[in-house]
Amino acid sequence: MSMIVERAKKKPTILVVDDEAGPRDALKVILRPFFNIQSADNAKAALDVLNTQSIDLVTLDQKLPDRQGIDLLQDIKHDHANIEVIIVTGYGSLKSAMDGIRHGAAGYLLKPFNVSELISLINRTLEKKQRLDLVRNFFRSTPELWSAKQESASAWQALRSSYSALAPCSGETTALPSEKLGLLSLLSDILEATDRQLLNHSSRVSFYATLLGNRLKLTSQEQEALTMGAFLHDIGKTGITYDQYADDQSAWSVTDASCVEYSERGAHLITSFGLPAEVAQIVAYHHERWDGQDSPHGLRGEGIPLLARIVRIAETFDHLTAGLDGSSPLSIDDAVRQLSLQAHTLFDSKLTDLFSEVVQECKSSLPPMGIAA
Ligand SMILES: [Fe+2]
Repeated sequence: MSMIVERAKKKPTILVVDDEAGPRDALKVILRPFFNIQSADNAKAALDVLNTQSIDLVTLDQKLPDRQGIDLLQDIKHDHANIEVIIVTGYGSLKSAMDGIRHGAAGYLLKPFNVSELISLINRTLEKKQRLDLVRNFFRSTPELWSAKQESASAWQALRSSYSALAPCSGETTALPSEKLGLLSLLSDILEATDRQLLNHSSRVSFYATLLGNRLKLTSQEQEALTMGAFLHDIGKTGITYDQYADDQSAWSVTDASCVEYSERGAHLITSFGLPAEVAQIVAYHHERWDGQDSPHGLRGEGIPLLARIVRIAETFDHLTAGLDGSSPLSIDDAVRQLSLQAHTLFDSKLTDLFSEVVQECKSSLPPMGIAA
């Protein structure tokens, strides 16, 4: 209820960008009862509006007379990271829509669109924007989140209270208790508010780690810890690199010192939220090397917790296949070859072999490579 009331008090503003008068006017007519509407028929006019007015969301046509929509999307996400963009595409190629998602679009719609789907996608996106804005504002205004213990605990409590007031979580539709569900939702939004690509990376690493965990026949408790720990393995980066993410993509290739710092910070956060110790261990130890050479915490071999060893492999595989370090994304076969070159040094070789088998068997159902990387 509160969200609907909030929305009514403060109508969000949508910028409709489309060079064709027909679809542009149709969108304006459909959306006008619910939102303030601005429109632009080319990229330059769109940027003028974005630079001079407060816009919450952009619906962006793929093809504009002066630029490709995808180029404009990248500019918008670079200069106005908190403005959400929905791609509207006329020549229904999933590939171009996925390119939009890769560059930070919140979603896409195919023309001719279904009116109720359009309204519902915009509403969901605006609700998410409210949550992400809340997290971003807290991160900007509350350095205590990352400071001494007592201050930090009350700052996190304040963030959790504000978040659950904005996005109450009943838990009725899942087996998870509502408090745990609310916490996971907050942590996911923290990753996304930092960088949508970080959330996508985290989701893929969790997926790859879970594939290997299934093959190893872990207990259900271990599986749950693995899935969650892999998803949260970079949660400590959110505290260190928030501003770097905005200005500098080098956050993907962190130094050894900041790697220790962010893994410890993340593990501390996980523990303070009362999540299982195995999850905190994954976050803390997923950068240890199998041979122990320069391991951040000095662990080696089987002294490294099994679940952290799995996540190290899954994370590296994603870096390789999504091209996260700025290099070209590798195919699954090439990535597996790269991993095996470093088995015995960086990775547990038995796990690396098993991982290679599993991903090659599941090739057809793996997430698209290089997407959202
Ligand atoms: Fe990572």
